[in-house]
Amino acid sequence: MIDKILTEYEQVVEKSFLDDLTGLHNYGSFRHLIDIICTQSLRSSKRFTLALIDITNFSHYNSKYGTLQGDHLLKKTGDHIIESIRKSDIAARLWRDQFAIQLDGSIGDDAILVAERIKSHIEESLENEITISIGLASFPTKGTTFKDLYDSAKESLDLAKQDGRSRIISLDSPEAPKDPSQYSVLVVDDDKLNGKIIEFQLRNYGYHIYFASNGEEAIEFVKSHPIDLIISDIMMPKMNGFQLCRRIKKFSATRLIPVVLMTTLEAPEVKLTGIDAGADGFVTKPFQQAELLARTKSLLHMHELNKKLTDFENVLFSLTNIVEVKDSYTQGHSIRVSQLSRQIGFALGLDNDMLDKLVTAGQLHDIGKIGIHKSILNKPGALTDEEFLEIQKHPLLGYQICVPLKDNLGISLDAIRHHHEKLDGSGYPDGLKGDEILLGSRILAVADIYDALTTDRPYRLGFSIDKAFMILDDDAQRGKIDKQIVSILKDLILS
Ligand SMILES: [Fe+2]
Ligand SMILES: [Fe+2]
Repeated sequence: MIDKILTEYEQVVEKSFLDDLTGLHNYGSFRHLIDIICTQSLRSSKRFTLALIDITNFSHYNSKYGTLQGDHLLKKTGDHIIESIRKSDIAARLWRDQFAIQLDGSIGDDAILVAERIKSHIEESLENEITISIGLASFPTKGTTFKDLYDSAKESLDLAKQDGRSRIISLDSPEAPKDPSQYSVLVVDDDKLNGKIIEFQLRNYGYHIYFASNGEEAIEFVKSHPIDLIISDIMMPKMNGFQLCRRIKKFSATRLIPVVLMTTLEAPEVKLTGIDAGADGFVTKPFQQAELLARTKSLLHMHELNKKLTDFENVLFSLTNIVEVKDSYTQGHSIRVSQLSRQIGFALGLDNDMLDKLVTAGQLHDIGKIGIHKSILNKPGALTDEEFLEIQKHPLLGYQICVPLKDNLGISLDAIRHHHEKLDGSGYPDGLKGDEILLGSRILAVADIYDALTTDRPYRLGFSIDKAFMILDDDAQRGKIDKQIVSILKDLILS
């Protein structure tokens, strides 16, 4: 008798923690558990993510098929949640059609992949009768109590459900992708079925998808549409994936768009050719959805960063305009030095990357003059020793302004610092000698002197081309500037 009462008591107690309909934890129980786990995790530095799940248009389903059928759907959803989670995860039905899961040990991209698996399992098990949205919030980034985590996951969930769509959104970190619908992906493939598979996988996740059936069509498309990522097949008529990639990477307007090539071949030479063409990544056919999503996400993130860097570059370029306004005699100087340097580099057979770097270096080389007083820059007479020392500060100042962009500028940064160095060690700011001065800096130095000689300065009119080359030849003869570069410049200008 006592045993029976005890068993009944246990059942009543247990029942008060569980949801009648699904048998999952109810709101009160789940909240209590999460608060306990939060306290323990703070001590043990454990990580987890709270996932909130919502059935798209559940009220519509309920009114269409009745509450009984609606309850049946909720029960089945609960069952499929249990089937899809790991043993260490905890699932609950909070209320109506809102479910929650504590994804144990998973945060960031890992949690997104787990959520993706759960979403696919539930939708496929219910034969795509319904779709679900998931909002994620990780501990401790988004909170250290149930309430904070819930509020953050709810914010993500609301975004995921926006416009009647069903997606997975995590707002965990600044690096996390924004709302996927902000991104446009161009899929290039002559095989329509393959294109449809990618479309289904990515559109389901919220991206805007566009199609082109070959490289030529893709090139035309990107001219008029802002695209954040290109996923292209390799073997296609008219223009293949490698050729497309080369064209995209060649033009400054499109070179930052990441390109992923799809390959069925594991042959390393295919990848090598792709890398040589500038491809940013590869996916292997047939696709694993997780691989495609992970690749897409990381490249979109990279694109975001690149865009920010170019914004910074743009700021730098506009600073050079200020220099040219300040130093009225050097208008157009940066652009001319830039173009001359590129022409010299081209004649020397340098590769495209190096030529791009020379162009950037030419544009930015005198940016340090922004810190030199206007009265010195525009002084009509000879400079005093003190003023000359002041003006000599500009290469180092330019370097300091540009150094945060070190990774992007590469050897351009070196040329900004060393465009006034001389091969015999008499230059500034570091007094480098001979081979210590890199080729890019030596090219820039010659282009810079030539332009300065042939244009008007505050203290004299511009020299004729012949006179300019007499001076350059003399400097080369005295071992100050590179003889070969002077002779290439002569060929370029006089031929
Ligand atoms: Fe300079
Ligand atoms: Fe200059």
